[in-house]
Amino acid sequence: MIGSPPRRLPAGLGPGFALHPGPFHWCLINRAMTAIKGRERCHPLGAPIAMQTHSDDLLFRYEQAVNPGLARVFRFMGLESVEATGYGAILVDEDGEEYLDLAGGYGVMVHGYRHPRIVAAAHHQLDRLGQSSRVLLNRPMVELAEALARVSPGDLTYTFFCNSGAEAVEAALKLSRAATGRVQWVSTNGAFHGKTMGALSVSGRRTYQDPFEPLVPGVTQVPFGDADRLAEVMNEDVAAVIVEPIQGEGGIIVPPPDYLGRVRALCDEAGALMIVDEVQTGMGRTGKLFAVEHSGVVPDLLCLAKALGGGIMPIGAVIGRPAVWKVFDEQPLIHTSTFGGAPLATAVGLAALKVTLEDKLPERAERLGRLAMAELRALKDAYPEVLTDVRGQGLMIGLEFPSAGLAGALMAELFQRHVLAVYTLNNERVIRLIPPLVIGDAELGRALAEISSAVASVAVYANELEE
Ligand SMILES: Cc1ncc(COP(=O)(O)O)c(C=O)c1O
Repeated sequence: MIGSPPRRLPAGLGPGFALHPGPFHWCLINRAMTAIKGRERCHPLGAPIAMQTHSDDLLFRYEQAVNPGLARVFRFMGLESVEATGYGAILVDEDGEEYLDLAGGYGVMVHGYRHPRIVAAAHHQLDRLGQSSRVLLNRPMVELAEALARVSPGDLTYTFFCNSGAEAVEAALKLSRAATGRVQWVSTNGAFHGKTMGALSVSGRRTYQDPFEPLVPGVTQVPFGDADRLAEVMNEDVAAVIVEPIQGEGGIIVPPPDYLGRVRALCDEAGALMIVDEVQTGMGRTGKLFAVEHSGVVPDLLCLAKALGGGIMPIGAVIGRPAVWKVFDEQPLIHTSTFGGAPLATAVGLAALKVTLEDKLPERAERLGRLAMAELRALKDAYPEVLTDVRGQGLMIGLEFPSAGLAGALMAELFQRHVLAVYTLNNERVIRLIPPLVIGDAELGRALAEISSAVASVAVYANELEE
């Protein structure tokens, strides 16, 4: 139970774990783990450890059948529990241990695990039709598209459905080329838009890009939040500027308040489209249904995924303005997806959207985010050697540490307290807090208390951890 989590770190993960002088370096995986050196249960690249429990067994099988490298990371971090079920903000493993989930499935779990009204909608639709014939009309798809048009800003009117965030970004990039007849894109350093070729090409981390060169040509990157630099690279060849309202995987970076408005103006001046990637920020996360609403900006294309699936179904969507959709007038099949808009996924998406609005989840994110931010900033003031920044909007909060090692240590400390939190993919010095928006007030209070206790523990051995 969460009320009585184990307080001690496992062998090799305690405060002294970084003191071993061993030469172990696992730089390809992540720098934080290199700080957790000499751990007894860790052994160099790959020999499987003995199977003792059913979770060890599954990790071994995962290593054999899915991803050996990631299996080693799981083992290295002591993440050997097997998820079994969940409710609200609580994830439950196969041994019945409960974890307070502040990682929220990397943004998928806005509505929490197994939200009853979303589960009911899934059952209802599953008993009728899961996938589409793609020959006859599909009612849930049309209803979700209409609902998205009603709730999205300005004249965002039409929706293309797909199955993931990266696919939504691919669609937006392709549509921008087709609609403008131009070939270049501008994106931002540190951005994360997914790992398909197009999405990867506009993302901002060499680690994920270099092995796949040559990327899609025609991409220029500028610093995020810097509209002056953007102005310097805009020209009549730019099809679109793609930007996250708040960089998620880049380290929860909130741009200056006038940034999106200036991006909009620069796009208009150059005749380029503005693509806003709300895959992580959408569905209430930042205190508004869509994060662009904070700045009153209407993009030409808005990408959604993650939480639109209500924590149950994979789904992606691009919502676009009429001028862009002329592309489909001319060639209706110019961009398609067999699974995109499936009845089950869109019925669930509709239920997820209804729950978001009826339960006022954006307002909840705004209120709880303010409370959390105030406490976390006080914690930063108390432990400036451990916590160098606290930032975010709504319930999308980043905790920045002086090194990836310290961030990793905090993650391990939290896990020992049965609290789940993870790095941002493009910045390992930042731990993101993106809990389900249905998290209870008391649960959030407990999460903050555990973070505070974990930071205090890390502070004891902070200066012994190397960069
Ligand atoms: C802003 C943003 N865009 C796109 C993606 C890619 O989404 P997916 O993993 O569903 O392809 C992510 C995933 O984290 C994201 O955060």
